[in-house]
Amino acid sequence: MAVGVFDSGLGGLTVHEALVKRLPEQAFVYYGDNANAPYGVRDADDIYKLTCQGVERLWEEGCDLVILACNTASAAALKRMQEMWLPENKRVLGVFVPLIEALTERQWGDNSPPREVAVKHVALFATPATVASRAFQRELAYRAIGVDVEAQPCGGVVDAIEAGDEILAEQIVRSHVEALLRRMPKPEAAILGCTHYPLLQNEFQAALGADVKVYSQANLVAESLADYLTRRPEFTGAGTVSKYLTTGSAAAVSKHATQFLKRSITFENA
Ligand code: DGL
Repeated sequence: MAVGVFDSGLGGLTVHEALVKRLPEQAFVYYGDNANAPYGVRDADDIYKLTCQGVERLWEEGCDLVILACNTASAAALKRMQEMWLPENKRVLGVFVPLIEALTERQWGDNSPPREVAVKHVALFATPATVASRAFQRELAYRAIGVDVEAQPCGGVVDAIEAGDEILAEQIVRSHVEALLRRMPKPEAAILGCTHYPLLQNEFQAALGADVKVYSQANLVAESLADYLTRRPEFTGAGTVSKYLTTGSAAAVSKHATQFLKRSITFENA
């Protein structure tokens, strides 16, 4: 048994890296649905179906706990999975909540009423499906009042990353940041609300300027998982076999993963 890490493609690797660093003794099985990426332009039913398929494949690897290292799946599918589909002995956790807790300066599981927070103007960069779901704004409204969120659906970025085209991905990031800054010239914070985007974190930071605090999820999710496993050690499992599975071409996905993560990563067919 191990903990499963799910994404539509390469983005979840940014979370996976932080998980391995924080929990070096834990086995992780990564599943990238690269054959069906990007999810961000699909409808909610489609995202739900594909995410359930991936999570079922991770169950076969003995992963009773799966992290959806994908905002699009967390926004469009997670609630429905938890309410209608998930068996008693399995858990699926998303990546939204730890990020919003950090932005709103809350401790894990603090359910007190929403209150004023330091940041007032937040730029949200995410996939078209995540932006359309308004899941981020909904979660934020449970915890904070008076925060103005300007969301930019970043079409094309995930496609360019999955194709291994770093230069195109950087150009598209710059144009999305410019578009957002025209509507909100002075954000105090920016959320990278897609796990692919930290692969271009420097590009986002450069385009936004040094004054903008850029939040990404990897370390926050790793802290939350460490805390969760301390409270629910039955989900740690006894397994020691870590691997990377893909629905795409194992050779091409390994090459692009190695290029973006700057270390050798070998995928096998899911
Ligand atoms: N990495 C994913 C996310 O966090 C999905 C991107 C996509 O497939 O469009 O949203």
